Amino acid sequence: MLENISETFLTITNKEFRVLIAIENKMKFYEWVPIKEIASFTNYELKEVSYILSNLAVNKLIHRNIQEYEGYRIYFEAYDLLALNAFVKRGSVNALGDEIGVGKESVVYEATGGIIDRHVAIKFHREGKMSFKKVRVKREHTGERKHLSWLYASRLSAKREYDALKTLYPEVSVPEPVDYNRHAIVMSIAKGEELAHTTINEPDWYLDEILEQVRKAYRLGIIHGDLSEFNIFVNPEGCEIIDWPQYITPSHANAIELLQRDIGNVLSFFNRKYRIKRDIREVINTIVA
Ligand SMILES: Nc1ncnc2c1ncn2[C@@H]1O[C@H](COP(=O)(O)OP(=O)(O)O)[C@@H](O)[C@H]1O
Ligand SMILES: [Mg+2]
Repeated sequence: MLENISETFLTITNKEFRVLIAIENKMKFYEWVPIKEIASFTNYELKEVSYILSNLAVNKLIHRNIQEYEGYRIYFEAYDLLALNAFVKRGSVNALGDEIGVGKESVVYEATGGIIDRHVAIKFHREGKMSFKKVRVKREHTGERKHLSWLYASRLSAKREYDALKTLYPEVSVPEPVDYNRHAIVMSIAKGEELAHTTINEPDWYLDEILEQVRKAYRLGIIHGDLSEFNIFVNPEGCEIIDWPQYITPSHANAIELLQRDIGNVLSFFNRKYRIKRDIREVINTIVA
């Protein structure tokens, strides 16, 4: 992630965006996009393209390779800006705030957006994350397009999460999906705090609430697949379940196994921290009934 994504976003020019989009497009055909291709895509003179590229390089938005020929590519930093730009153009985001979460496979920012300037969260997916050096090493061993696997995986992950939220909201207590582009999604801010990082007063009531959401999601054809105290927010009104990209459907071969793992994680957390005991088989039966 860029350290100063807001600042960079504000200073980047339309022409610089156009060059990034040119590289993005041509990366379908090249691991390192030749300068000539960028010029033909943008319709800018070679000299101007060189100048823009050098500015982008200063901002660490592009990577350059000069081994066989001069070529360029982009990585998550630039993809983040391209997705952000799409959200801003559509009005789903107006201003970017602070980082509010980093997960195993994501970076999450607070932002404001929409007509009423409400608070939203932008989740930038980071699947198949690898250092830029590794991308280079891997290239030798893999076929075409493999150099884009991190990007395709992240895009797929964002789309899956957006689809899950669309299906679940508002019946199930999840963030409201607002927008999605490339590898990023915009959603409402989850209310409250992560279950893992707070202490609740009526744990039995909250556990019932959580299991009720799991049951409703199952009815709508969705099993979370990565449920734990880290992906559940609790607030005075109830709970909100986040982080859905790895969801599976009840017809999936491992559906019951994953549902058991989800429920098992929640039950063992409540047992560990609040000494609440529930029979997992009984719980599962009420969910799949
Ligand atoms: N809608 C949201 N509202 C508030 N915080 C969020 C939201 N989505 C994610 N976060 C924060 O970002 C962290 C990482 O997001 P998460 O969806 O769990 O992704 P990961 O798969 O990387 O764990 C969460 O643990 C949480 O702290
Ligand atoms: Mg998570």
